[in-house]
Amino acid sequence: MVSAMFRQTVKEMKEFTTRVYESSLIDDVLGDTFRPGGIELTARLAEVAGLCDDYLVLEIACGKGATSSFLSQEYGCRVVGIDLSAQLVSLARKRVEVENLSNKVDFLLGDGEELPFKDSTFDVVMSECSFSLLPNKDAASIEIERVTKPGGRLVISDVTVRGQISERLKNQVTFSSCISGAESIDGYIKLFEKVGFIDAHVEDHSEEMKRLAYQILVSFGSFEMFERQVNEASGQPSRGCCEGKCGDVWQGLFKEAKVGYALVSFVKPG
Ligand SMILES: C[S@@+](CC[C@H](N)C(=O)[O-])C[C@H]1O[C@@H](n2cnc3c(N)ncnc32)[C@H](O)[C@@H]1O
Repeated sequence: MVSAMFRQTVKEMKEFTTRVYESSLIDDVLGDTFRPGGIELTARLAEVAGLCDDYLVLEIACGKGATSSFLSQEYGCRVVGIDLSAQLVSLARKRVEVENLSNKVDFLLGDGEELPFKDSTFDVVMSECSFSLLPNKDAASIEIERVTKPGGRLVISDVTVRGQISERLKNQVTFSSCISGAESIDGYIKLFEKVGFIDAHVEDHSEEMKRLAYQILVSFGSFEMFERQVNEASGQPSRGCCEGKCGDVWQGLFKEAKVGYALVSFVKPG
């Protein structure tokens, strides 16, 4: 049975998630981008989205702004990035100031489940390795559809699972919530088709996930050490590690989840 001490409210879960990504340790392993595939995969998302210089793009969960900055520099589009972390939004703003992009790229503090924009605002909505982190995916998908212009596109890249993660493990996982919150490819398609998106396009990029996992192993020695250090750096306990079962939790998670990474895109009917 899972200890009550590890049950979190949605608010606590969101705060926990953002604190993890604020940690400098994450920077050390992942560098500028907090996800598999780096900026090369971002370029593929941009290609699928058909980005051009008169587009207005929303990036949900923009972190330190690497993607928003890249999109504007490479494709000339205007970009708005939102993230739940005030610290990361501030770093993102500083970044585009230094890069002289403040006239084309803006960042706002905001929750991906409650987008602070009018209906039909954006030509393209993008999100990388972050939709999986949102506890209320139904609310987020409704919001994404609402702010996308008719004929506009949604392009995400995210963690995928082919297996079912048991509730017992879900409750023990802290850092890896992008895995415990991930959907199957069909799951993502159903979520977005349910709110009206069409023309699903899927690409498998699981090799990038393997590369990132290898990078974590080489840098930290094990996933449990990675989780322990990230949680310590962000001032919170690791559930599995606290109980001396961190190795079991990670092993069980990979075994049950059958993790991958995919690009999924849709069109909002015009
Ligand atoms: C895995 S990182 C990805 C960051 C960025 N997209 C990238 O690829 O470099 C996850 C990001 O999601 C943000 N985040 C988590 N929950 C969020 C929410 N509910 N709304 C907006 N951003 C959120 C975190 O603060 C963090 O910046």
